Amino acid sequence: MSETAKIEIDGKTFEFPVITGTENEKAIDIKKLRGTTNCITIDPGFKNTGSTTSAITYLDGENGILRYRGYPIEQLAEKATFLEVAYLLIYGELPKESELKDFKKSITNHTLVHEDMKQFFEAYPSQAHPMGVLASMVVSLSTFYPESQDPNRSDEAVDLTIHRLLAKLPTLAAMSYKNAVRHPFIYPKNELGYIENFLNMMFAMPTEDYKPNPVVASALNKLLILHADHEQNCSASTVRIVGSSQANLYASISAGISALWGPLHGGANQAVIEMLDKIQEDGGDLDKWIAKAKDKNDPFRLMGFGHRVYKNFDPRAKIIKKAADDVLEQLGVDDPALDLAKKMEKIALEDPYFIDRGLYPNVDFYSGIIYKALNIPSEMFTVMFALGRLPGWIAQWKEMKENKEPIGRPRQIYTGENERDYVSIEKR
Ligand code: SDX
Repeated sequence: MSETAKIEIDGKTFEFPVITGTENEKAIDIKKLRGTTNCITIDPGFKNTGSTTSAITYLDGENGILRYRGYPIEQLAEKATFLEVAYLLIYGELPKESELKDFKKSITNHTLVHEDMKQFFEAYPSQAHPMGVLASMVVSLSTFYPESQDPNRSDEAVDLTIHRLLAKLPTLAAMSYKNAVRHPFIYPKNELGYIENFLNMMFAMPTEDYKPNPVVASALNKLLILHADHEQNCSASTVRIVGSSQANLYASISAGISALWGPLHGGANQAVIEMLDKIQEDGGDLDKWIAKAKDKNDPFRLMGFGHRVYKNFDPRAKIIKKAADDVLEQLGVDDPALDLAKKMEKIALEDPYFIDRGLYPNVDFYSGIIYKALNIPSEMFTVMFALGRLPGWIAQWKEMKENKEPIGRPRQIYTGENERDYVSIEKR
């Protein structure tokens, strides 16, 4: 006998099926709710509402668990390469050697963007935020590949678009950076690995080669893996809902980049560093700023703290915090922001305000400190988040399409005026 949930409305009892996930999570299936009760549910921010079933990522917010296709994030961050994780998220299994070789080869062969795109960059002001540039460049890619605008064309066509995106996003990201600092663009080099190629396009100059430091490349590999997917977060849900209208993958990913830009989401990694700098400039009085964060009348929030799902620690933050110590030591970087961040974490986690609300450091709290040590400017931090999240967004879009999910179109409860007649302007 399958489990059900009973709801009583106006004295009538209605029964709905309860579905159970692989990890025994339960959901009341309300697909027939409006048809049988003439009622809908309402849940601003979808704090209690599931939008889909998914086999990609599992989060347990209470126990700080994160797994991609069943593999614990701690193992993937330690043992895998980013492209292996991208393949896992998108195609569902860790690639065999031959599969990974073909995947890498295909991506390597698509790293160049059309020469005409250089003119787009030149039109931007130098202070253009790279996230705004990146979002527009990604949707512009669709205009160079008109056949990609039909997401139902064929599996091969979808795969080609997936490989083009994985290949070209690092190129476009590096071009956004070079454009911002008004340095010449550096072309991809096919003999370099995925991460080394990105670092070369970011930091090489026509006047001299750049030798990627293995410590930097390894740190970046780990960071990209830790950001690769996070189930139905704001930007992934954006990608799914845009894709549900059968908009092409470039347009869906561009929308995801825009959603990620917000300081409450991926933009928090830049906001954390700006917050730590501001506190330092203000004399480093952490008690003052933590009091501001707790004050309902003060809009200031501790950026990098809190999470919709993790009401205990964010497993990624634990890994990144340790990596920050290791990377800064290996690079011989002494950044007072790291000590300030650690002190802030300690004070906050002994404060009932944060403990009672389950507010712990999230993935964005320490990541910026590593990016800074890698000489990546703060305006590029959220671009780095997007580079990591790309395979997750692609996997979510692909799953939505393969599950033939209907177009996303939520209902609402109307609270406006009742019917009224038009009033001519002289009578208003
Ligand atoms: C990411 O969803 C994902 O998976 C996202 C992400 C991913 O990988 O895709 O993990 C990446 O976006 C991480 C989050 C990055 N954002 C920040 O660090 C910004 C600061 N954090 C917050 O704005 C907030 O914690 C959110 C947006 C992350 C979560 O907000 P919720 O779940 O809507 O919680 P809430 O705003 O309702 O807060 C609950 C309470 C409130 O107080 P009360 O009304 O109960 O008195 O906690 C307070 C909030 O005022 N609160 C904070 C706080 N975050 C929440 N108070 C001070 N500082 C904070 N950072």
